[in-house]
Amino acid sequence: MHTNHTPPAPPLFTWEFASDPYPAYAWLREHAPVHRTALPSGVEAWLVTRYADARQALADQRLSKNPVHHSEGAHGKGKVGIPGERSANLMTHLLNIDPPDHTRLRRLVSKAFTPRRVAEFAPRVQELTDRLIDGFVARGEADLIHEFAFPLPIYAICDLLGVPAEDQDDFRDWAGMMIRHGGGPRGGVARSVKRMRTYLAELIHRKREDLGEDLISGLIRASDHGEHLTENEAAAMAFILLFAGFETTVNLIGNGTYALLRHPEQRERLQRALAEGDESLLATGVEELLRYDGPVELATWRFAVQDLVIGGQRIAEGDPVLVVLAAADRDPERFADPDTLDLARRDNQHLGYGHGIHYCLGAPLARLEGQTALATLLRRLPGMRLAAEPEDLRWRGGLIMRGLRTLPVAFEAGE
Ligand code: HEM
Repeated sequence: MHTNHTPPAPPLFTWEFASDPYPAYAWLREHAPVHRTALPSGVEAWLVTRYADARQALADQRLSKNPVHHSEGAHGKGKVGIPGERSANLMTHLLNIDPPDHTRLRRLVSKAFTPRRVAEFAPRVQELTDRLIDGFVARGEADLIHEFAFPLPIYAICDLLGVPAEDQDDFRDWAGMMIRHGGGPRGGVARSVKRMRTYLAELIHRKREDLGEDLISGLIRASDHGEHLTENEAAAMAFILLFAGFETTVNLIGNGTYALLRHPEQRERLQRALAEGDESLLATGVEELLRYDGPVELATWRFAVQDLVIGGQRIAEGDPVLVVLAAADRDPERFADPDTLDLARRDNQHLGYGHGIHYCLGAPLARLEGQTALATLLRRLPGMRLAAEPEDLRWRGGLIMRGLRTLPVAFEAGE
């Protein structure tokens, strides 16, 4: 309950909020931990901001991922979820479904997307990382979002899925369209999603005739061994791997590099450890960067399939619930000095990859890309510095993701 002494709720989803949402999240955690608000799209949703409530909500089977449970029904359709996924017939992916379909599809993709496959991919990620840095190292300056953080995950996922090299720049364009319009007009995104869908359907068709060692071939193989995977589900699976693994990783690299540039003592500590061949700080450090300023600000949509109570607040059947990972991961009830970046933090069970049955499938790949990207930047551009005032940097105003539009840096040319 609000008392007369409670200050008014801070404005959410403004430009100021986008550049630093953490004070507003601290207010919500304290005064309105389960808070109903109108989103920029007009959809009303509950924001869950405390760690304990967030963790519980992420694993609560009474909260469905399937938008058919949204009370706004047809009216709300198209306003929640990924733009264009409905019209492109891509709804049957992991982030929109519940058990038992979710269990079946997740088991199937887990057979193809194994930690071993990711580990074997490490040299390729290193090669891609070095190639991108080679592209700007002689210039002494770069925009790390456009020239580095953006292309790296796209090429990595395309490689893993088995998209031929000559088609990967098409993906780069479609993905660019999605990220440019994040939080803005949805038409351009929907068109790119449609093109991607057509391409993926053809690719799956071709792979069926000629199986390789890639992930799409692995999916087809797994489905031929007893488990059933429809053509639609295969396309939706390939699509969600691209979609879920792309902008997230861009922002892990972008937000992570930015946080290091803003905390020189932490960055020097990591640089020293790497120079001494000690990679343990890199591993805890990337987890801490995810907790401190992670790419996924709000977990993807959930809808109450029955009335329930979260954190003492009654939520009605059909209501949308958004778990605010960025707020939960700064909860002082869970993390000591939550607003301090400490790359060596040990007790760090952050929610940056979610929790429960929808826990990020790509976490091993994200860790590999994040660790390789940051370590290589620090090794190859040791004198790298921010080439803009922090106040002048613009953050994307998207709902689910948090990330920078640009990250200009300067360094010794040819370093
Ligand atoms: C799910 C975060 C990278 C594939 C999730 C969820 C989060 C997340 C928070 C759960 C969403 C929810 O419960 O509503 C991240 C972060 C990443 C990252 C922070 C990078 C730093 C990746 C990559 C891939 C990927 C590289 C694949 C190539 C997926 C998939 C799901 C998922 C398929 C859905 C799993 C399911 O519903 O069973 N991710 N992700 N993610 N992620 Fe990631």
